[in-house]
Amino acid sequence: MSSLFDLGGRVIVITGGTGTIGSAFAEALLNAGAKVVLWGRGKTVPVEESVKKVAEKTGKHDKISGYRVDVSVKEEVVSGLNKVTEEVGVPDVLINGAGGNKGKSAFIDADLELFKEILHNNLIGGLMIPSQVFASYWIEKGIKGSIINVASAASYIPLSGVWAYDAAKSAVINLTMGAAKEFAPHGIRVNGIAPGFYIGHQNRDLLYSDYENGILTDRGKAIINHTPYGRFGTMEDLHGTVVFLASEKASGFITGVTIPVDGGYLVDNI
Ligand SMILES: NC(=O)c1ccc[n+]([C@@H]2O[C@H](COP(=O)([O-])OP(=O)(O)OC[C@H]3O[C@@H](n4cnc5c(N)ncnc54)[C@H](O)[C@@H]3O)[C@@H](O)[C@H]2O)c1
Repeated sequence: MSSLFDLGGRVIVITGGTGTIGSAFAEALLNAGAKVVLWGRGKTVPVEESVKKVAEKTGKHDKISGYRVDVSVKEEVVSGLNKVTEEVGVPDVLINGAGGNKGKSAFIDADLELFKEILHNNLIGGLMIPSQVFASYWIEKGIKGSIINVASAASYIPLSGVWAYDAAKSAVINLTMGAAKEFAPHGIRVNGIAPGFYIGHQNRDLLYSDYENGILTDRGKAIINHTPYGRFGTMEDLHGTVVFLASEKASGFITGVTIPVDGGYLVDNI
């Protein structure tokens, strides 16, 4: 059974790999034997710092590396892919983890420049550009790669006040399905993970009014009440799903699906 989840010999690029969820994916994939490359803008956390943190946590110092790549700039993605190919190896899996939300407002007050920025960040940089660059490289070389997108609970049921994030994340599921169909003849799989609620840089202030003392905002409390497991996700909750989807042996006939990892948030009822 363990060979089903053995990622030895695989090279996996994680965009937004410097973030909370990206680093959790990295940890799981390294422990399953893969070589992992983190891509980040280095704005909130320097890429080297994230690499060091994950290396220390896993002890896999020789299997993790990182580059500064802004995925919303196509030239940076192309040169990032070239560097990975030359310095680490040909990537087999792309995880589109870059993304996130900024702010919250009533619908009629939504700032349209910010709306465009969030759509761009989550869809153009967060999905389209890296997927186009990697898929065209894989098709040209005849490589059966795999893409894992990061959706959200907001992909299914809109969260109030975060209109652009809702729109972008629902499109992530749609594009996952469409791209899966289009790339299937090339043996390229496209799947997604929809995390429920995990504390990351982007949402901490929306969910906690005082994080250090564990004091939740009303929104944070509402989410916990709406989650049958009664808690936010921990990073370990995401480990199994990312390894499963990255493993050709475990999920090689699965494409176009998005798996919620949400403690039952989407099935809550009265
Ligand atoms: N935290 C949650 O509860 C949650 C839930 C569902 C989905 N998600 C999604 O998971 C992904 C990761 O979120 P997180 O909570 O780890 O947030 P995070 O802010 O900790 O990490 C996001 C990372 O993406 C990077 N990034 C953003 N734009 C980039 C760009 N153009 N180029 C390169 N890197 C870029 C940021 O620098 C950051 O390091 C996002 O797509 C987010 O929408 C998060």
